[in-house]
Amino acid sequence: MRRFLDKHGRGTNYVPHRKGDEHLQILAVVNFKGGSAKTTTSAHLAQHLALTGHRVLAIDLDPQASLSALHGFQPEVDQNESLYEALRYDDERKPLSQLVKKTNFPNLDIIPANLELQEYEYDTPLALARKDGSMGRLFFGRLDDALADVAGNYDVVVIDCPPQLGYLTMTALSSSTGVLITVHPQMLDVMSMCQFLLMMGEVMSTLKHAGANMRLDWLRYLVTRYEPTDGPQSQMVAFMRAIFKHHVLVNEMLKSTAISDAGITKQTLYEVERSQLTRSTYDRAMEALHRVNGEITDLIHRAWGRR
Ligand SMILES: Nc1ncnc2c1ncn2[C@@H]1O[C@H](COP(=O)(O)OP(=O)(O)OP(=O)(O)O)[C@@H](O)[C@H]1O
Ligand SMILES: [Mg+2]
Repeated sequence: MRRFLDKHGRGTNYVPHRKGDEHLQILAVVNFKGGSAKTTTSAHLAQHLALTGHRVLAIDLDPQASLSALHGFQPEVDQNESLYEALRYDDERKPLSQLVKKTNFPNLDIIPANLELQEYEYDTPLALARKDGSMGRLFFGRLDDALADVAGNYDVVVIDCPPQLGYLTMTALSSSTGVLITVHPQMLDVMSMCQFLLMMGEVMSTLKHAGANMRLDWLRYLVTRYEPTDGPQSQMVAFMRAIFKHHVLVNEMLKSTAISDAGITKQTLYEVERSQLTRSTYDRAMEALHRVNGEITDLIHRAWGRR
């Protein structure tokens, strides 16, 4: 039983409706479209959750290691181990707890990425092709098994996925309780996302038939880098809302130079000083961020049966 504040600021005790590590919410931020703001969304969401009292583990699953860099872990400089070490198929596999690093945010830990993660994309088909096949066939259970080592230490895991639907992303999706599909509302991006959805649908049903324990509580589209004054963009958002209905988050993340400027110095909006940016720009971006992250937090709490 944990203690949280309700919307009136009062403490509320609640018992998660799941047992044991089932309490853990595992969120995958996905889309194979590059630059759809997966990393920016993951970083701000993980930090928001930590700042609001949740115990958070961020996992950088992208060999590009952008989420790691935003938290001060650079694969070129530091010899950090990635999640690959907890997923690998040989005897060198390590407990996930050994890979966890502290960040400057209280309540927020991270497993950084490095290029070695890419090995998982080559190892998995080999493992699948192995005669006995037993380990390979269960690639979709590997993250669950690895997370069992730390499940009691966290409330939420946020996974920043690479811009491709390979085995890394599939492993994350098969363990997820929540999926966020980030989408920039432009024609080519939305068309690309539709291809992604078709592939993802096929992959998910194949995994389910193969025995994966799918337990998705929610899936939502998040409109990112949105410019409401841009006619074609707002038409595209209306189109998405008509098709995907309540699966599109009510709040959009606005395009803001506050976010991109903070990114240049490898910071999030939660880290930069308000005085370093134009105040009104900072405030507008922070308000949008607060609304988006608040809406996602509500989904997490609802999955715990709090509302
Ligand atoms: N709301 C925003 N306003 C302005 N710029 C943004 C916003 N969100 C993201 N960006 C910028 O867009 C670029 C791409 O964002 P990001 O790296 O998060 O995308 P990604 O989907 O993780 O990319 P990749 O597919 O390469 O992993 C970055 O330069 C980032 O600073
Ligand atoms: Mg990224």
